[in-house]
Amino acid sequence: MKLQKLYELAVQKGIDADPRSKSEVADFLKKEKEVFTKLEKKEKEFFDSACLQNPYSDTRILVGSLDSEIKKIAVGIDLEATELLLIHELNKSGAKIDLALSHHPEGIALAKLDGVMKLQEDLYAQAGVPVNVIEKLMDKEIQKIIRAIHPINHSKNIDVARLLEIPYACTHTVADNMAYRFVEKLIATKKPKTVGEVIDALLTEPEFTESAKRGVPPITFVGNKNSRAGKVVVTGFTGGTSGSAEVYESMKHAGVGTEIAMHMKPEAQKEAEKNHINVVIAGHIASDSLGMNLLCDAFQKAGVKEIVSLGGFTRFARK
Ligand SMILES: [Fe+2]
Ligand SMILES: [Fe+2]
Repeated sequence: MKLQKLYELAVQKGIDADPRSKSEVADFLKKEKEVFTKLEKKEKEFFDSACLQNPYSDTRILVGSLDSEIKKIAVGIDLEATELLLIHELNKSGAKIDLALSHHPEGIALAKLDGVMKLQEDLYAQAGVPVNVIEKLMDKEIQKIIRAIHPINHSKNIDVARLLEIPYACTHTVADNMAYRFVEKLIATKKPKTVGEVIDALLTEPEFTESAKRGVPPITFVGNKNSRAGKVVVTGFTGGTSGSAEVYESMKHAGVGTEIAMHMKPEAQKEAEKNHINVVIAGHIASDSLGMNLLCDAFQKAGVKEIVSLGGFTRFARK
């Protein structure tokens, strides 16, 4: 399939699995268009026009022609200079890899990571946190992230792909949305009564069992295997990066018993502990692999012939 089609399919899959409804996503894009129309002519020059069709600022084609034919993709959780050089070496010996696809964002997709964080407001609102509260907390968090990512050397790896002439893209929140939706359905089906049963539910999926074999099983950050799970929410899976550590008091009042997340900052763990909310950390790379596997299934269904896994990614295909 063409690179453009692959990109459009990834965005569509992200929208299908988004914690927001389709009309909420459409409203988000409409607002972007309104912002764009109101800009002065000289400000328009700096506007990332991809935002008008794609609600995920961290999912972009970084290098390559939209028209290039993609049959074989090298997929990684992190595809940086080392992996790009490896792809170049493999291609020299005939591997014929057409695209380097990273989960974690690079270039403009990394620089604009804050653009996807607003979706966390809907995610927490669905868990019962008042939307006015989560909006204020996220506004503060988004400002922190903008400042934290601003000094990064965003285009370093793009330069490697450009000079080696390797088409390069990243699919961050689209894959995280897919992982989020999948785990949410898994929990709704298995109905775990204890934190141990939450972990058992995760361990029915190959990404988590493989990770456990490699020494990184899903673990409890707060609570223990026998703790009663109560209402289980999957709030720490998508929306760019970790949310606000201040949200746990509201989560307690919303009746949340257990949170499942990919990873967690120490200050958030402390707040969860203080508010008696159990936390299951599914595992960062295993959870990211789950999302990328679901996306790769869609790519292969649409005609991509082969996936080469590297950069921490392990391929498991689902029917
Ligand atoms: Fe992720
Ligand atoms: Fe990640």
